Amino acid sequence: MSAQDSRMLAFSGRVAIVTGAGSGLGRSHALLLASRGAKLVINDLGGAVDGRGGSATAADAVVAEIKAAGGEAVANHDSVSDPAGAARIVQAALDAWGRVDILVNNAGILRDKSFAKMPLEDFDAVLAVHLLGSAYVTHAAWPHMQAANYGRVVMTTSAAGLYGNFGQTNYGAAKLGLVGLMNALKQEGGKNGILINTIAPVAATRMTEPLFPPKLLPHLQPAYISAVVAYLCSESCNATGDIISVGAGYYAKAQIVESEGVFYGAGAEVTPEMIAADWGRITDMGKARAYGAAMEEVAKIFGYFVK
Ligand code: NAI
Repeated sequence: MSAQDSRMLAFSGRVAIVTGAGSGLGRSHALLLASRGAKLVINDLGGAVDGRGGSATAADAVVAEIKAAGGEAVANHDSVSDPAGAARIVQAALDAWGRVDILVNNAGILRDKSFAKMPLEDFDAVLAVHLLGSAYVTHAAWPHMQAANYGRVVMTTSAAGLYGNFGQTNYGAAKLGLVGLMNALKQEGGKNGILINTIAPVAATRMTEPLFPPKLLPHLQPAYISAVVAYLCSESCNATGDIISVGAGYYAKAQIVESEGVFYGAGAEVTPEMIAADWGRITDMGKARAYGAAMEEVAKIFGYFVK
């Protein structure tokens, strides 16, 4: 083994599930993990970008690609948004290799429309795949990770959820919901060695090629996203609860922060006019800070009364 190989993050003996791995980012994540020795469940229902239709060929082709390169993989064609299907995705890993170490929740669809024109069916469908689908597959994998005292879970959010995007109320709500899911799971998983992080990718795939400037597409390679996903799925990673914005060779941490705020004093009578007058101070982000847990933030408020 060369000096470079000994530093390489390896996944030998690890079993990974990547949802929506039949194309785009999921395929790229799966190929990278497999090339480093992980055994892969390639889940994909093989539908269109809007989630309609389905075909086994997407997942099967990626399994064939991994096997041709000397790796190990099995296909699963269930929908993440069906609780029984989500359980079968995890069962596929258990049947093939008896364990599940890594779960990359990546499957996703788009049904963009302005809110006024969006049928609720499209709202529900997008939440079902991104938010409920990630929850269902994670829920099925969780007890096995707990029993093994080891797990790496990656959620896939989006700038559309973190910051907002016109025409993506369904997608944005689902994607930020994943951050809420992660925030609780990072606390519940910690004692069993389960780490959970979230990526917010920007990459050229069939989902985004029609939306991004054509000149930039060659720079937006999925491999850039997979590099950080593989790190987050590795034994070397100690991070949990992080949101990583990534695209085209750019890597950064995104965080929810809260301003220092204004406390009017115990028992103070606060009027709407006082809020109006102090709006600038209340929303001044100059001394903003992040909180690692809900109770840390709540303790800040309680703290005003115990000083
Ligand atoms: P893609 O359309 O190439 O891949 C999504 C895959 O998920 C497809 O193969 C699809 O068949 C599969 N899928 C959809 N619904 C499924 C279901 N119910 N069960 C199982 N598989 C299902 O798109 P891309 O870009 O690779 O997207 C991957 C993830 O990254 C998605 O969650 C997407 O929202 C997210 N994302 C992508 C961005 C980008 O710039 N490409 C930006 C922000 C987020």
